[in-house]
Amino acid sequence: MKTQIFNAKNKEDITAAADILRSGGVVAIPTETVYGLAASCLDETAVKKVFAAKGRPQDNPLILHVDGIKMLDTVVSEISDKAIMCANTFWPGPFTMVLPRKSTVPASVCGGLDTAAVRCPSQSTARAVIAAAGVPLAAPSANISGSPSPTTWQHVCADLDGKIDAIIMDKPCSVGVESTVVSLVGEHPRLLRPGAVTVEQLRAVLPDLEIDEAVTGKFASGKASSPGMKYKHYAPKCEMHMISADNAAFADYVNNKNDAVVLCFEEEAESITVKDKLVYGSQSMPELTAQRLFDALRELDRMCAKKAYVHAPSKSGVGLAVYNRLQRACEFREIKL
Ligand code: TXA
Ligand code: MG
Repeated sequence: MKTQIFNAKNKEDITAAADILRSGGVVAIPTETVYGLAASCLDETAVKKVFAAKGRPQDNPLILHVDGIKMLDTVVSEISDKAIMCANTFWPGPFTMVLPRKSTVPASVCGGLDTAAVRCPSQSTARAVIAAAGVPLAAPSANISGSPSPTTWQHVCADLDGKIDAIIMDKPCSVGVESTVVSLVGEHPRLLRPGAVTVEQLRAVLPDLEIDEAVTGKFASGKASSPGMKYKHYAPKCEMHMISADNAAFADYVNNKNDAVVLCFEEEAESITVKDKLVYGSQSMPELTAQRLFDALRELDRMCAKKAYVHAPSKSGVGLAVYNRLQRACEFREIKL
């Protein structure tokens, strides 16, 4: 299949992308978090193509993208007061809520669950495409399942060129990690995946918010609240280890490891003396770390790294999302010094 490359700056290209989506095709679109692989969420055959292109397990449900609360009504059967409060506070933006699914959305889109995860992105191209398509779009991250999420259109090309109808070329994603996911179907709201909307911001609206064990730890056993959490995720090909330590102890630990790539922060870069080091963020600017994270993980593959050590970020604010993604990239290998 020839994958068309559209330009977000051209109005005709947005219209062409929307036409493809309305007629059952799949298009990679930018959002503020990561690039998404979109299809009409009402078209089961189109959504099957998304699962196939990514190599995604069938029981891992997709997030539905709407252009506002009015469209939300077309995909969920009940909008609670809490949901309205969340939408008013966090939309448009990197926030996804899990609500009861309406039967117009095929169960297979939502991994067979009777719930649907919905978000309203803020990125202007994403909004223009949803509006032009006129239907909510199911869109997981536009990467091969298991590999680091794409934050540039070139990342999407590297994974999916030749496998999908089109890619919309736009700027790199400003947030860089996937949306915060909160379930609103249980007795208490529950954080399933951390993102740029932080626990502190969520608690201001949802004081009884619970944090799922998979947010900071390994999914243990039984039924995952969010099926995506049980799969291997965000991993480069090399063996990666996370090191929790202060800057001096981190430098001491990694400086004799010349067989590995060291992922460090800008503030400590001078004290890291190994041959291969990558600055993946800044301790004083956690938003920048989030924005750069997935490109750094992909860089490890481009360097053909065999082994890597990454300095753990602080878990506060958006740092929790970075930590959560790194835990998975490291398959939970973490050394605390
Ligand atoms: O920022 C994002 O959310 C990006 C962009 C493209 O919008 N999308 C994204 O999709 O990250 P994906 O498919 O890579 O991750 C979706 C996550 C998975 O962990 C999945 O298990 C969870 O959301 N999820 C989806 N529907 C769910 C549901 N009904 N109940 C619980 N978890 C759900
Ligand atoms: Mg993903």
